[in-house]
Amino acid sequence: MEQRKSDHINLALQTQTSGIEKDTRFAYEPMLHAHPSDELPQIPIGNKKLRAPLWISSMTGGTKMAGMINRNLATLAGEFGFGMGLGSCHVLLRNEKHLPDFDLRHIIGDDQPFYANMGIAQIEQLLGKGDVKTIRDLVGLLKTDGLIVHVNPLQEWLQPEGDRIQHPPVEIISELVRQVDVPIIVKEVGQGMGKESLRALLDLPLAGIEFGAFGGTNFAKLELLRDESGRKGLLEPLSYIGETAGDMTRHINQLIDEGASVKPQSLIISGGIKNFLDGYHLINTSQLPAAYGMASTFLKYAREDYQTLKRFTQGQLEGLKVAYAYLRVL
Ligand SMILES: Cc1cc2nc3c(=O)[nH]c(=O)nc-3n(C[C@H](O)[C@H](O)[C@H](O)COP(=O)(O)O)c2cc1C
Repeated sequence: MEQRKSDHINLALQTQTSGIEKDTRFAYEPMLHAHPSDELPQIPIGNKKLRAPLWISSMTGGTKMAGMINRNLATLAGEFGFGMGLGSCHVLLRNEKHLPDFDLRHIIGDDQPFYANMGIAQIEQLLGKGDVKTIRDLVGLLKTDGLIVHVNPLQEWLQPEGDRIQHPPVEIISELVRQVDVPIIVKEVGQGMGKESLRALLDLPLAGIEFGAFGGTNFAKLELLRDESGRKGLLEPLSYIGETAGDMTRHINQLIDEGASVKPQSLIISGGIKNFLDGYHLINTSQLPAAYGMASTFLKYAREDYQTLKRFTQGQLEGLKVAYAYLRVL
């Protein structure tokens, strides 16, 4: 007690907040809630529920480090009840030697949503050959609950060895859901999507939409960094366009208010989310049930070791519980 009082006297002068900007996204309401228990909202994704509203966004596979990172992430999803999207599984179609990087169902457990991942260009090529079996087989092989399709026309265009997409992505996805009877989630990879793209997606019978919004990892920029032909200097302005997670949440709320057709049951709000307050703010702004997803932030810790990743995540969940008890989104 004496030590605590002495700490307070010594530290109080270091904590002055005048001149520091407060977080204006929330009203702080200290009167209305006891200290939080362990419960967090359970968000449905496809036919399963998350135990906490967090999603591990699609990342990696097929490299030396990827297996270790993926096993850390899958262990995390299983322990804390998150959902997880795999990184592009395209590499598996060519060579099954990478299967252990993606074969994570036994780690994540049966109760958590776990999705395979393929790019829109590959889906278009497979549908063009009438080969939906490969898509169904991939989902079966990995025992995933469904498939995430990443739609990344800007990345493909700027990627030195990128594919060219022959049809509008929404038409390809529409055909995919008609032909393949597995839950489908559609995402961008870091530029997000505008209101009209979202309107078109919301009208499809998808299990969900993941934002992959602008504001965090930027694959347009990344591909230009990889390009050695000098296109970076010419095309860099393209990497600064996109829709943030806040923009996309507003677009979807507006579409709901305008009476647009809304078939997906839930959203994964991702792209540029760095911590629990960013996530809490957006999932509580969304009119549709939503979890929040992070890629690069989880990656930072998953590259270390499981205990580092777990410690980070425990802090995030603790912060999230406090937010649910005392913060109202403005
Ligand atoms: C190393 C890395 C690899 C990624 N690979 C994929 C991928 O294979 N498929 C995909 O849909 N998204 C991929 N993404 C994009 C993420 O899922 C996410 O949409 C994007 O990184 C934005 O989230 P962030 O700002 O939290 O990183 C990747 C991201 C990172 C950082």
